[in-house]
Amino acid sequence: MKLEVIEVTHYTDKLFRIKLERPRSYRFTAGEFTMIGFPDEKIKRAYSFTSGPGDDYLEFYSIKVPNGPLTSKLKYIEPGKFLEVGDKPTGTLTLANIELGGHLWLLATGTGIAPYISLLRDPSTYDLFDKITVTWTVPYAQDLRAYNDFLEDVDIDYFPTVTREPFKNQGRITKYIEEGMWDNIAPHTDRVMICGSIAFNNDIKARLVDLGFTEGTRRTSGTFAQEKAFVS
Ligand code: A2P
Repeated sequence: MKLEVIEVTHYTDKLFRIKLERPRSYRFTAGEFTMIGFPDEKIKRAYSFTSGPGDDYLEFYSIKVPNGPLTSKLKYIEPGKFLEVGDKPTGTLTLANIELGGHLWLLATGTGIAPYISLLRDPSTYDLFDKITVTWTVPYAQDLRAYNDFLEDVDIDYFPTVTREPFKNQGRITKYIEEGMWDNIAPHTDRVMICGSIAFNNDIKARLVDLGFTEGTRRTSGTFAQEKAFVS
C-alpha cells in the first residue's frame, strides 16, 4: 500500500531512518520485515520494522548502498512523499520462533539492529525473558547514533562494539565471545537471535550449533533464530 513519509532522519552519510504513516489496520509482529519501494517502480527491498507493533507510525532503518538500485534514490526521500510498503510482513526473528524464558541474546552487525529495535519497543518482550543482552558491532562509533540512546535507556544489557576506530569496546563481537563472553551459554538457559552480514550469521550459527543450540524457523521454535540484514 502507498504510505506517506512523515519524517526522515540522516545519521551519517551512510545511514538514515524513515518514518511513515501507519493505517490503523496495518498489522505486523515485532521482528518482522516487509518489502519497500517507490510506487509504480519495480525495485523493492526487504526492510525490518524498527517501530514497535503498538506505535502509531511505521519506521525503517536504512543504509545508503553506493549505486544501490533502491537506496541511491531512497536516500533523497522527504516528508510528504509516498512509498509502497508491502502488506504481508514476515520473518523469522519473532518471539514465536524461539523458546521463551531464560537469557535472550540479540546479536547484530550494522543495520541488523533493526528487528531488535522493534522487539524492544514491544513491552511483552521484557516479560518473556529473565534477561536481555544486545550486542551491536559497527565499523565506526557514529554508526551507533540512530539507536544508541534508546538502547542505553531500555532495561537490557547493551554491549556496542566498534571495529575500525578506538572505542571502549573495540573489535568484533566474535573477539569478545572468544575471550569469555559466552563461557556459560547453553541451550537450556539461553536463546540467541542473529542478524547481520552472511559471514557474521554463519560464524555465530556455527558456534551455537557446536554448543547444541537448534535453529527456530517459522515452523518450529528453537533456541536460536537468524535473519540476514537485508540491504547491506
Ligand atoms: P570489520 O570492520 O572488522 O569488518 P559489514 O559492513 O560487513 O556489514 O560489517 C559491519 C560490522 O560487522 C563491521 O564492524 C564488521 O567488522 C563486522 N563484521 C563483519 N563480519 C563479521 C563477522 N564475521 N563476525 C563479526 N563481525 C563482523
